[in-house]
Amino acid sequence: MQLLHEEMNSGLSKTTNHMADIKMFPTFVRSLPDGTEKGKYLALDLGGTNFRVLMVELNGKDVDIQSKTYLIPQRIMLGTGTQLFDHIADCICKFVNTHDIMGEKLPLGFTFSFPCKQEGLATARLSKWTKGFRCEGVVGEDLCILLHEALKRKGNIDVEVVAIINDAVGTLMSTAHSDRNCEIGLILGTGCNACYMENLEHVGLWDGEIRNPKQVIVNTEWGAFGDNGCLDFIRTEYDRELDTFSINPGKQILEKMISGMYMGEIVRLVLERLTMEGLLFSGVDRECELFVRGRFYTKYVSEIESDHDEFFRNTKQALDELGLEGYSSEDCKIVKYVCTLISARAAFLSAAGLATLINKINKPNMTIAVDGSLYRFHPRFHNLMCLKMKELVRPGLKFQLQLSHDGSGKGAALVAAVATRLRDSKE
Ligand code: BG6
Ligand code: GLC
Repeated sequence: MQLLHEEMNSGLSKTTNHMADIKMFPTFVRSLPDGTEKGKYLALDLGGTNFRVLMVELNGKDVDIQSKTYLIPQRIMLGTGTQLFDHIADCICKFVNTHDIMGEKLPLGFTFSFPCKQEGLATARLSKWTKGFRCEGVVGEDLCILLHEALKRKGNIDVEVVAIINDAVGTLMSTAHSDRNCEIGLILGTGCNACYMENLEHVGLWDGEIRNPKQVIVNTEWGAFGDNGCLDFIRTEYDRELDTFSINPGKQILEKMISGMYMGEIVRLVLERLTMEGLLFSGVDRECELFVRGRFYTKYVSEIESDHDEFFRNTKQALDELGLEGYSSEDCKIVKYVCTLISARAAFLSAAGLATLINKINKPNMTIAVDGSLYRFHPRFHNLMCLKMKELVRPGLKFQLQLSHDGSGKGAALVAAVATRLRDSKE
């Protein structure tokens, strides 16, 4: 916690930011929604489990969301930026056609869940790819321009990108719509990240004027904590192996110890080692999928830990899917035990991160908005986090973790609504 705190402060300062792994990007989102937001918006959600196009209608506290999920094939995730943005433009076009909104110029909020340096609400440059993406020619580019150019290539869609936000920011905004105490947004999904509302005076990176409201949401990008080696003292051989075979070795060290994209693989590496040492699955066929990288999904961890009796129904189903045969109840017990250790470590690390932020913000009562598949589906993550946070949060500070709904839809539309309101009031 102390190291994280120091690294966050170093990220916030203009003189040390270039050396800090945690980039603490100011987002240009300065006001929380007040519940009066109105209008019809498009939203894009890129970077989580699913790529989605959404249409969101805000009417005070009422929010109507229609959305469609589209597939992004791996060849596009690892292809060129032009292919990626052409694909996104294609999906927007299909969505607009099927929802009969062709010709309506709708403002669009783009939830782009990767580290970006923002130069304005709708000007964001990708700082680096994380998770499973690595498209050539996008780092350093203005995403809004890339999207508008792709839309122009398609010829017939009239959309205006009014805001680009991170998923953690959308999550915070979505919960803040109904809870004024919400100060932090946390994602525990494919990746792991947090954002919070910071006093402008503490944001050395802030170049703009310091006028009311004297605050801005900071996207911490804390998944990169440890990239300079400062977490090596708690990393294991499994963490190191996972990192070596990832598409971004040496990067996103904290994220790789916590998030859904990696947790299953850590469990698999431990099970593989136990099997090799003759401690698990005696006589297993080496061709079995337990030995294939990436084949043990994080959803198995959640399912296995949901087994509460000696029948191990979910555990057996996962092991069957991996092609394992002839395993014993003792094997199932060990598999479940390994899962509980890896997920508890992830929950405790997330709790330590949150406690650091809560202590830093130092308000008596705070809501933390949380989203992401790991938090939603893991049966013990929430409780484990709360237990550990009670030990780590400064006495007297109260907090509650609140599952957030549709940060990328509702959250993006709320930011878009505030952005259009500001723009229209200037015209
Ligand atoms: C969703 C949010 O519920 O959670 C997205 O709407 C976010 O904006 C996602 O990216 C993160 O979770 P996952 O598990 O899809 O990576
Ligand atoms: C990764 C991304 C970050 C995102 C998080 C959760 O850490 O870098 O921007 O918020 O995943 O999706």
